[in-house]
Amino acid sequence: MNLPNLQKAKQRTLKEIEYKKLETSNDEFLKGQKFFLKTYGCQMNVHDSEQMRAILIGLGMTETTNLEEARVIVLNTCAIRENAHDKVFGYLGRIKHLKKENPDLIVAIGGCMSQEESVVSEILKRHPYINIVFGTHNIHELGTLIKNNIHGTQDIEVFSNEGCVYEGINYARDSKITAWVNIMYGCDKFCTYCIVPYTRGKERSRKPAEIIEEVKKLKDQGYQEVTLLGQNVNAYGHDLKTTIDFAQLLEEVAKTNIPRIRFVTSHPWNFTTKMIETIAKYPNIMPYIHLPLQSGSNRILKLMGRRYTKEEYLKLVEQIRKTIKGVCITTDIIVGFPSETDEDFKDTLEVVNKVKYDGAYTFIYSKREGTPASKMTDITPLKVKEARLQKLNDLINKYAKQSNEKLLNQEEEVLVLGISEKDSNKVYGYTKTMKLVNVAAPKETIGKLINVKITDAKSFSLDGEILSK
Ligand code: SAH
Ligand code: SF4
Ligand code: F3S
Repeated sequence: MNLPNLQKAKQRTLKEIEYKKLETSNDEFLKGQKFFLKTYGCQMNVHDSEQMRAILIGLGMTETTNLEEARVIVLNTCAIRENAHDKVFGYLGRIKHLKKENPDLIVAIGGCMSQEESVVSEILKRHPYINIVFGTHNIHELGTLIKNNIHGTQDIEVFSNEGCVYEGINYARDSKITAWVNIMYGCDKFCTYCIVPYTRGKERSRKPAEIIEEVKKLKDQGYQEVTLLGQNVNAYGHDLKTTIDFAQLLEEVAKTNIPRIRFVTSHPWNFTTKMIETIAKYPNIMPYIHLPLQSGSNRILKLMGRRYTKEEYLKLVEQIRKTIKGVCITTDIIVGFPSETDEDFKDTLEVVNKVKYDGAYTFIYSKREGTPASKMTDITPLKVKEARLQKLNDLINKYAKQSNEKLLNQEEEVLVLGISEKDSNKVYGYTKTMKLVNVAAPKETIGKLINVKITDAKSFSLDGEILSK
C-alpha cells in the first residue's frame, strides 16, 4: 500500500526524470464483460480516460453507459474545486447500492482526488467497499490492479511512479477527427490557490521526437486536428537535456502539416515573443489562445503567485493581437480570492473591458486543503462573491456576443465534428478561432474542413450555411 501524501508532493526533489516504454499486454480475463467509465475535470483527465478505456478494452471488456450492467466501474476524478468532490461523493452513493446487490462489482477511483491523502481517507471511511484507488502516476497499472482485485481485495496505488514519463501508451480516443497529445505532465508553478501541482506532480516534458512521431501517426490515421496538452505548455522543455522550448516544438509540429494545431494551457508568465511569432507564421497553428488571467488586481495576482502584473498581461495581449491576425483570446478568472475587495474586483472588470475576451471560464474561489491560500483569511461573504461572479459573467457574455456578431455574413473555415445537438438536420464544428458553429450541411461533411457563411450569432454559438465542401 502506498498512501498519497501532500507534504511529500511539496518537498519533492526528483533526481532525474525516467523515461519508460510500456508493453501492451493481451490478457483478456474479463472477456465479454462490461465497464463503466466516468470522467470529471479538465482535458488532461479526458485524455487520461482515453488511456483507461484502452486498458479496459485490452482486458476484453466493452464499454457501457448503463451503471447497472457494469462489472467494473472506474471514476476518473477531479479535485480543482469543492463541487468537483461533491459530484463524486454523490455518485458513490449510487454505486454503494449496486455493490450491495452485486459484491463482484469492481470499483476503482482514479484521477486527481485519489492523490489527496485526506480525501482518500474520507472516501475509504465512507465507502470501504471500494476496491482500487489509483493515482495519476499509476494509470498504466489499472489492468494489473483490476486483475489483483478480481476476488474483492483492496489496493491503493498512488504516487509510486512520480517522476516517470511513459511512452508507448495506447489510447482509445473519443474522436477520429481531433486528438489530444500530451507534451508534458505536472506543474511547477504552485499558484497559491491550486491543487494541481500536488495531484499531478512535477513538470515532466516528453521528448520532442516522441511527440512528433505521435502527431505524424495521427495525421496518417486521418486526424485533422491535434491539441497539445500541458498545464503550462509554454514551460515545455525546461526539464529536458536538449535545448528546445515550446516555440520550437510548435514549429516542429506545424511542419508535420497536420491541418490544425491547438494547445492548452498557456501561462502568461512565460509566453515569449518567439511563441507569438511562430503562431503567426504557420497557418496550421490556430489563431486562438486561452490565456488565464485569474485576477486583474496586482495585489491579488501577487497573493496568487501568478508572477505577472495587470500591466504586463495587457501588454502581452496587445502584442498577441498585433502579431496574430484575427486571433481570439479566452481566459479563466477566479472571483472571491481571500481578501479580494470591491476595488480588486473592479481591476478585474477593467481588464475584461480592455481585452474584450471572446469567452471565459469564471469561478468562485474554492478553498483547497494543503494549498497556501487555504491559510489566508477569507471573510468575504459568499453572497458578495456570487454577486461579483454574476456581474463578471454578464460582462463576459456581452463581449462574447459582440465578438460573435463581428462574424455575421463572414466566411469561416469550420472543422465538422458531428451532428448538431440542437438540430439533427445540422452538423456542428469549430472555426479556427474555436467558435462553435451549427451548420446546415449534410452529415457527409463530418471530419472535413468546410467553408461556411455565418448567418446568426449568439453568445455561445454561431449558425451558418455551407459554401463549399
Ligand atoms: N494550468 C492552467 C489551469 C488549470 S485549472 C492554468 O494555469 O491556467 C483551471 C482553472 O481552474 C484555473 O485557471 C483557475 O481559474 C481555476 N481554479 C484553479 N484552482 C481553483 C480554486 N481553488 N478555486 C477556484 N478556481 C480554481
Ligand atoms: Fe494550477 Fe497555476 Fe499550475 Fe495552472 S499554473 S495548474 S493554476 S498551479
Ligand atoms: Fe481537475 Fe486534475 Fe484537471 S484537479 S482540473 S482533473 S488536473
